[in-house]
Amino acid sequence: CGIVGYIGHRDAYNVVIEGLKRLEYRGYDSAGIALYDGEQLKVCKTKGKVADLEKKVQESITSNGSIAIGHTRWATHGQPNDINSHPHLSNSGNLAIIHNGIIENYDSLRKELKKRGYTFQSDTDTEVLVNLIEDVIKNEGVKLGKAVQIALNQTVGAYAIAVFDKRKPDEIVVARLGSPLAIGIGENEYFIASDASPFIAYTNNAIYLEDGEMAVVRNGKDVKVRKIHNDSEVAAYVHELQLNLEQIEKGGYDHFMLKEIYEQPNAIRDTYRGRLLADQGIIKMAGVDDNIERIAKANRILIVGCGTSWHAGLVAEYAFEDMARIPVEVEYASEFRYRNPVITEDDVVIAISQSGETADTMAAIKLAKEKGAFVFGVCNVVGSSISRETTAGAYTHAGPEIGVASTKAFTTQITVLTLMALKLGKYKGTISDSDFRFHLQALEAIPQKIESLLKSDKIIKEIAETYKDTRNCIYLGRGYNFPVALEGALKLKEISYIHAEGYPAAEMKHGPIALIDEEMPVVVIAVRKGHYEKVVSNIQEIKSRKGKIISLVTEGDTEVKEIADHVIEIPETIESFTPLLTTIPLQLLSYHIAVMLGKNVDQPRNLAKSVTVE
Ligand code: G6P
Repeated sequence: CGIVGYIGHRDAYNVVIEGLKRLEYRGYDSAGIALYDGEQLKVCKTKGKVADLEKKVQESITSNGSIAIGHTRWATHGQPNDINSHPHLSNSGNLAIIHNGIIENYDSLRKELKKRGYTFQSDTDTEVLVNLIEDVIKNEGVKLGKAVQIALNQTVGAYAIAVFDKRKPDEIVVARLGSPLAIGIGENEYFIASDASPFIAYTNNAIYLEDGEMAVVRNGKDVKVRKIHNDSEVAAYVHELQLNLEQIEKGGYDHFMLKEIYEQPNAIRDTYRGRLLADQGIIKMAGVDDNIERIAKANRILIVGCGTSWHAGLVAEYAFEDMARIPVEVEYASEFRYRNPVITEDDVVIAISQSGETADTMAAIKLAKEKGAFVFGVCNVVGSSISRETTAGAYTHAGPEIGVASTKAFTTQITVLTLMALKLGKYKGTISDSDFRFHLQALEAIPQKIESLLKSDKIIKEIAETYKDTRNCIYLGRGYNFPVALEGALKLKEISYIHAEGYPAAEMKHGPIALIDEEMPVVVIAVRKGHYEKVVSNIQEIKSRKGKIISLVTEGDTEVKEIADHVIEIPETIESFTPLLTTIPLQLLSYHIAVMLGKNVDQPRNLAKSVTVE
């Protein structure tokens, strides 16, 4: 979910609505706003997107105000309907709240409040929280900030909240535990948001609350940060943000996803800039350099992540074992955290997360730390929760990724992890000096190869046109390109809602082959490096069952061209770097199919970019 708030001299309605649009990638099941216009507290909320909210608001909010909060939701408790949408009001109608996260003990709190005469309109945990705060104000006669603190100390769960009282419309109280919350500091104005994108147009200064902190944001005065559990004051650090507006806008592209696909050459350059020094034959990575012994002598490396980040972990498994000869296991963070895993102090855990906020990945890190493992983070969002929780790490520096379906985050994660594997291999002597140098040069050449690959967009569009009405699709790859097959299938599922399965090519004969008939498109990654002959036999198996073959081949390939229905040519590179290239056409293929089917590419149904609930 995304939250936004504003107090200051601007029209609070516009600031909040524009802010919500920037945060829509975090969830878009419903949207809402609460605004105090000087006389009344106005609330408008609706199922659907911010655009739906704007339509609805025309009838209810006609005047402007200087204080407002807004929310865009990814439903956890209750259906995404109008009533369950945020903001929620307290029974008296004085307090308005927005909330990300889950209050786990809401049921018992709700029963208790019901006994005291409170009534509830929605199924949400949030409505319980706002009434709990109201109850504290009533019974203890304290100010809003104090009441929020007392109430939160009675809750179990995770949250980022913003709340204000219409009787005191010059302050917003915010708190964070487990869900991100930033406070933008302008001149005589303050912004609240889940990340800095809603206020980057107005200010570059922001305070990021830490877990367990709350703040009272007072218009024209100050921001006071305190610990929720013991009320002690915290000296808040004001960050100077590096983001700029252009990075979070579409810049002439139809969709963020397309822009982000095209950004990959530069994103990868940004990832290795200052790290990959090909002429000197070295890789510099502060987080690895400082801990090189610890990582290199690891018993094993355990990689955790979710979704696309998990796929990047699978590619890294090949690279680490291949180059650094360290045993690797890759696991979904959500499984790892609940299965009592065997982890020792000799293990190194690498957590991969674009957002740096994924709840399951965060929990996996905490568990690994408790067991004494060394935890290394690979995140894209600077200052994110995961980047702070890990002992050391490396940022991907891909720039903001807004499209819900991950693209440049994936290829830059692979880049960082490959640099790590190479560096460890060099340190351990498991890769020869000449091989190492050869790899550095090859990696440096990747962005340019992606640029040339992006030119095959026309062919990919034609393929998309041919298969856009298919109900199913299979993706096959071997070795380094097996995870790419999984990622290709995930991309198609996510944005076009076509059922797709990724498989290791040789596994096809143990099941998926039964699905193949003349209607079934099969995307096969058959680049020359990496078990080429074996993949060619797999292609023959599909062909003899009349499946339609779309194949990714190395430039100049003639063998597969003869059998496949369509081929997309991939520039030549070292086997371990092929995923950085083969991924690109698969992203474009799903993009074009989704556009042709009229789907919402940047905000696919039911998904969210940053999943801060488990
Ligand atoms: C969500 C997104 C996926 C992403 C996954 C992990 O499900 O929709 O695109 O891969 O979360 O996110 P992370 O930020 O941890 O990489």
